[in-house]
Amino acid sequence: MVEHWSPDSWRGKPICQVPTYPDGQKLSAVTGQLGRLPPLVFAGEARRLKELLARAATGEAFVLQGGDCAESFTEFETNTIRDTFRVLLQMAAVLTYGCGVPVIRIGRMAGQFAKPRSSDTETIDGVTLPSYRGDMINGAAFTEADRIPDPGRMFQAYFQAAATLNLLRAFAQGGYADLHRIHKWTLDFVAKSPAGEKFQALAGNLSQALDFIAACGITGETTPQIREVEFFTSHEALLLEYEQALTRRDSTSDEYPWVATSAHMLWIGDRTRQPGGAHVEYLRGVPNPVGVKCGPSLTTDDLLRLADVLNPANEPGRLVLIARMGADKVESKLAPLVRAVKAAGRSVVWISDPMHGNTVKTKTGYKTRPFDAVSAELKGFFAVCRAEGVHAGGVHFEMTGRNVTECIGGAENLTDVDLAECYDTACDPRLNASQSLELAFLIAEELRAEKKRRG
Ligand code: PEP
Ligand code: CO
Repeated sequence: MVEHWSPDSWRGKPICQVPTYPDGQKLSAVTGQLGRLPPLVFAGEARRLKELLARAATGEAFVLQGGDCAESFTEFETNTIRDTFRVLLQMAAVLTYGCGVPVIRIGRMAGQFAKPRSSDTETIDGVTLPSYRGDMINGAAFTEADRIPDPGRMFQAYFQAAATLNLLRAFAQGGYADLHRIHKWTLDFVAKSPAGEKFQALAGNLSQALDFIAACGITGETTPQIREVEFFTSHEALLLEYEQALTRRDSTSDEYPWVATSAHMLWIGDRTRQPGGAHVEYLRGVPNPVGVKCGPSLTTDDLLRLADVLNPANEPGRLVLIARMGADKVESKLAPLVRAVKAAGRSVVWISDPMHGNTVKTKTGYKTRPFDAVSAELKGFFAVCRAEGVHAGGVHFEMTGRNVTECIGGAENLTDVDLAECYDTACDPRLNASQSLELAFLIAEELRAEKKRRG
């Protein structure tokens, strides 16, 4: 039983990154009604993810977590969801086929609607307005009306999350993810990229292997893992009003009587991970797997405190540490944290977010991430894990299946000039489908090398 915790105990703690709702009555009406709506996920599903994550902690599985920086109300379309899902399937196939590790697929999807901001306000041409905080909170347009936080947006986020999740469940279990369809997962614009060509070769080999095992009597009929995948959702648990409203009683557990039902896994951002703060308080009381973003300012003392507070029983699979240091800092900043956590005997899953520490602004004013910096941070992450004797447990990407031009570099060598072509993100720059696939091949190489070393 978690002590001195209730779904609203976070309200007594210092909190950062929250909107101020001008209409308190509307806020209570919305959260009250959300509290009566069906849960989006079940406790048993969150426990299943935790079991799988426990395997990633010991190197028997690998986490692939990815999706939009911020989901948007206007980009909400079947094809957007399908395309991100299928790139995740392709990346997972590269990792599983390429190096024999089972992949745990987790979307940054069906709930990633609230964003922390480095500044509370934004000024353009002498006009200052509240910052955009994600579609669940306010509107992105630079007008006073849009920027006022509106609790009603939580409804739209909830229903969009429900519809997204419904589609994802259907894709995962309804035949779309069947390995026999692997050739069909490649998006047209990806097929001609170097990573796309490499993928088609892999898909050809995999199809032959499937034919062989089918001849031996192992098919989708006998083995459901061939025709369906497990797929989980996650988002940053930033807007605690929403999270609290979706917290439900779990009558099957004495230890955790309440469960977060907005997603299977929730994470705490780099700006809200204060050990005595509201976000940590909320997450310590729910049994879901919890991620913590670990940026360069995180001290070993704070990290060990966070491990104590969030995972007092040292339960494997509960705590996922998401390192996002930046390519130039990953070795110096991550190594001491990894060492301290290991020395303290803490069971955690270390995963790499090579996006958030590598954001730069171009001369033309776009926020971008150089592909080379992203791959350098990934390599640095694997090097640190190797040197410290821990398992590299997974990766976390901001990516989309669409053919956007938001991150520069990659095999197609996008430049500053190309960014204007299709720069659509609601917040941070995402990898496009080809860039994502290219990184999957790079990770597969790292994993293969690790496997070889272990023998
Ligand atoms: C994010 O994942 O979108 C994010 C804001 O990350 P961080 O908290 O690591 O900056
Ligand atoms: Co982001």
